[in-house]
Amino acid sequence: MDVYGLIGNPVGHSLSPPMHEAGYEELGIDARYVTFEPPADDGAKAVEAAATLDVAGLNVTVPFKQDVLEAVAPDDLAARIGAVNTIDFATDPPTGYNTDAVGATRALEDHGVTLSGEAVVVGAGGAGRAVAFGLADAGMSVAIANRTVEKAHALADEVPNATGHGLDELGDLLADASVLVNATTVGMKEDRSPVPADALHGDLAVLDAVYDPIETRLLREAADAGATTVDGAWMLLYQGVEAFERWTGESAPVETMNAALRAGLDE
Ligand code: ATR
Repeated sequence: MDVYGLIGNPVGHSLSPPMHEAGYEELGIDARYVTFEPPADDGAKAVEAAATLDVAGLNVTVPFKQDVLEAVAPDDLAARIGAVNTIDFATDPPTGYNTDAVGATRALEDHGVTLSGEAVVVGAGGAGRAVAFGLADAGMSVAIANRTVEKAHALADEVPNATGHGLDELGDLLADASVLVNATTVGMKEDRSPVPADALHGDLAVLDAVYDPIETRLLREAADAGATTVDGAWMLLYQGVEAFERWTGESAPVETMNAALRAGLDE
């Protein structure tokens, strides 16, 4: 039996185990997906231990996404993002991937969104980095807007075809954009939006990386403005789907995994 898992601290409420195990069951793969909660300083050590124990694959979440870089060989995208969320132990050293970037692009494409033209990414933290690289690699020009404008400029210097801005420029930036992604924590467990409602319009596709609540204030206001909306569970789903496919080499049963994820979110 293959063992897959997630390392994070905390990982208590993760929806990855039911999502991945539903996929294994659907495809008849003899595997389990479990959570591990190593001490906050021991990310790299945990990866070495997992290799020793013959774990087949690990997802990685806060606070370990940067720390595990020293224990893996990152692929080009993960190296540029500077963070790993998926480790494949089939190689020695294990290979580190970042499927958060593709999670965002696949979530948008799944909703019929064409990834060309101009995108606005709000946030320049860990999620913002992954999303900005993902959209840029897909061919979009990316305007990164962040509360701390220096962080937006620093990230824009690393991402191809990107510019950095303050949140006060969102109205102007969105007028010309076809895609908006919220990669801040604003709206998580609160009825707030990082984007003024009057800046939203019907030619936008809006992805919110926040999935608690599933319908954030941003998505509600985007729907009111006639925009296409993509909730954060789609991004969570597709980062998992991409990890599943890298580990197993098979096409993931997306609908089954989505149903398991949504059932977990409803609990
Ligand atoms: P994550 O890994 O989820 O991206 P993070 O790295 O801590 O988390 O980044 C949080 C992001 O949310 C940052 O872009 C942060 O802006 P700053 O760089 O200015 O801190 C943004 N953020 C958090 N709280 C915010 C708020 N109240 N208003 C605007 N942006 C906020």
